[in-house]
Amino acid sequence: MSAGLVATSIELIRNAQADSGAYPAACNYPTYEGFCWFRDASYVAHAMDRSGELESAARYHAWVTRTLLSERTRIEAAVADPDHARSRGAVLRARYPIEGRTTVDDRWPNFQLDGLGTWLWSRLDHARRGGRPLAGDDAEAAALAARYLGALWDQPNFDCWEEAGERRHPSTWGAIALGLHAYAETSGDRNAMATTAQIQGALASRGTHDGAFTKHEGSHAIDANLLWLGVPDAVFGLADPTFQRTLAQIERELVADGHDPNRYRADTFYGGGEWVVLNGFLGWVYACQGRSVEARRCLAWMGEQANAAGHLPEQVSTNVNDPSMVNVWVERWGPIAQPLLWSHAMYLILADALNVAPRDRLPPAAR
Ligand code: BGC
Repeated sequence: MSAGLVATSIELIRNAQADSGAYPAACNYPTYEGFCWFRDASYVAHAMDRSGELESAARYHAWVTRTLLSERTRIEAAVADPDHARSRGAVLRARYPIEGRTTVDDRWPNFQLDGLGTWLWSRLDHARRGGRPLAGDDAEAAALAARYLGALWDQPNFDCWEEAGERRHPSTWGAIALGLHAYAETSGDRNAMATTAQIQGALASRGTHDGAFTKHEGSHAIDANLLWLGVPDAVFGLADPTFQRTLAQIERELVADGHDPNRYRADTFYGGGEWVVLNGFLGWVYACQGRSVEARRCLAWMGEQANAAGHLPEQVSTNVNDPSMVNVWVERWGPIAQPLLWSHAMYLILADALNVAPRDRLPPAAR
């Protein structure tokens, strides 16, 4: 573990955070900068919480509160008629301009529900750790998110990779159940509790093939995003036999040498290389399972992917599925995003989960 990379990651995230409180997905990458994804940023906020930077996380959560309250009419309409909302695209976005200009015409597959589920969990965990309490507008925003997820969870939507069309994805169900479960536990909300149970039922009956979770309903393929069903550990639990078979399949099919997963076999985005965030999730699973040797190997591998400035990329072009596609994407969108804030977040989360991170934050004077 590089103590330096912990400090660099915290500083990078702090400097990249917009005045609005939003975290951009990446710096120096035209397709991502200027936008904040609920998914990426909610893990970033969680990483900041775990690193003692509660104030930064609080500013992000306040931005989400403002964003959700500004979308109240849209949310209420979608809750009242989910089919209509989906068919009209009258749904929340997966990514918002970091300065809150919701009028921006963003041609992006924006109907994605996992990010909001992850936010709900991250928000409640933040309050639990002594961060900004869930009251007033914040409580209202969380309630809106819970109602929206409760009404729309079974609507087909894009998964976290934003490529495979609108389907029902177990990884997305897992993220929604995670958020609703946290909300139900905190508020005692019975609807959230009942929906969590329904999603668990759907996962078990419609989200599996041959005893393992699948990439999407009806598919036989595996995807490393299914690691989300193991961590954070709330939906099924690491000991669940279906999760264990899923993990074994990910290790067999997607992990080349024990610590660097590809997303899925048919991935061709920048050739479909090895993803730093997924390595973080795999290490997090191992850390929670008490497999600390493997978890430390994951952390070390992540650290090795940093450039001279200490910046982590989104993915690296090793063990690519389709080498001919690397340059196609470089020409289309430029070199691979680096630094990607989510990669840094996963480094911080794994370092903390391993409990080896010395509290090596910058001295207050340098902040
Ligand atoms: C990934 C998403 C991510 C986004 C911003 C996309 O390429 O597939 O998971 O949220 O980049 O980092």
